[in-house]
Amino acid sequence: MSTKKKRDFLSFDNIPGAEIVALLELAARQKADPETCRQRQTLHGRVVGIFFEKASLRTRLSFETAVYQLGGHCIYMGPESGRIGERESIKDLAKVSSRYLDAFVLRTYKHDTIVQMAHYASKPVINGLSDLHHPCQALGDLLTIQEKCGRLQGVKVAFIGDCNNVCRSLAQSLPRVGASLSIASPQGYGFSGAFLKSAGVALFADPAEALQNADVVYTDVWASMGQESEAAHRRAIFQPYQISAELMAKAPKAIVMHCLPAHRGEEITDAVIDGPQSVVYDQAENRLHAQRALLCSLLD
Ligand code: CP
Ligand code: NVA
Repeated sequence: MSTKKKRDFLSFDNIPGAEIVALLELAARQKADPETCRQRQTLHGRVVGIFFEKASLRTRLSFETAVYQLGGHCIYMGPESGRIGERESIKDLAKVSSRYLDAFVLRTYKHDTIVQMAHYASKPVINGLSDLHHPCQALGDLLTIQEKCGRLQGVKVAFIGDCNNVCRSLAQSLPRVGASLSIASPQGYGFSGAFLKSAGVALFADPAEALQNADVVYTDVWASMGQESEAAHRRAIFQPYQISAELMAKAPKAIVMHCLPAHRGEEITDAVIDGPQSVVYDQAENRLHAQRALLCSLLD
């Protein structure tokens, strides 16, 4: 029996910048040479369980594709299977599933569900989105920024919108690889002062201030999955934070990013998301390359 300790990827807490850079290098190498990566069959004969309490297009497809390309197989347990810990305890679910599976990808309402699964599972657990973090998204985003800007060091990212799971993972990762993050959010929707200080990111009320000299302008939905009942209220509050052609005129050289799915006409206009500054489809593709590298690093 191997005595090697299993590694999880739940958030960027305690992940040093050098480790992120190494992962991005691997992702870029594999992206440039996908055949070698396929031939190596790192996951040959291995099975990854995808336990999703919420809907997904990109995360599910990119993980299933990455596992297939590496020679492995996925079993999908979707929202119809109920929430994790509902039918039986998280402990029992994690311990039983670890006898069959080689790794887990989880998408949950509560981040603590993923923390508990990682605690009880004897196989690696990957966070495919929780209410607090979306680290796989940020990993793909760093790869995209590196490709589009030619570097990460010194790149200025402006996130305009809700301080949600995606924004938190960007805040925890960008400064560690030498990039900076300025956020613009309405009052009451920002991060705590303590988090901003520990992450080393700046928070503004005015979007125009946050995107001064930005290389990247990033946004996400105003109401995340699980916040549907607040959507109408949030639409009114966040309206001044919409990424429109008028706002983008203040950052004419910046690329525009969105994790998708987008609510076109809300946080971003059609003209911007379909415009020349938008890189959203390349960004979505990079989820595959980043996650394939992550799987190799956790399971090889
Ligand atoms: N960006 C992202 O995670 O998309 P899905 O919700 O479709 O997986
Ligand atoms: N913040 C969004 C991201 C979706 C990929 C949500 O949690 O719904």
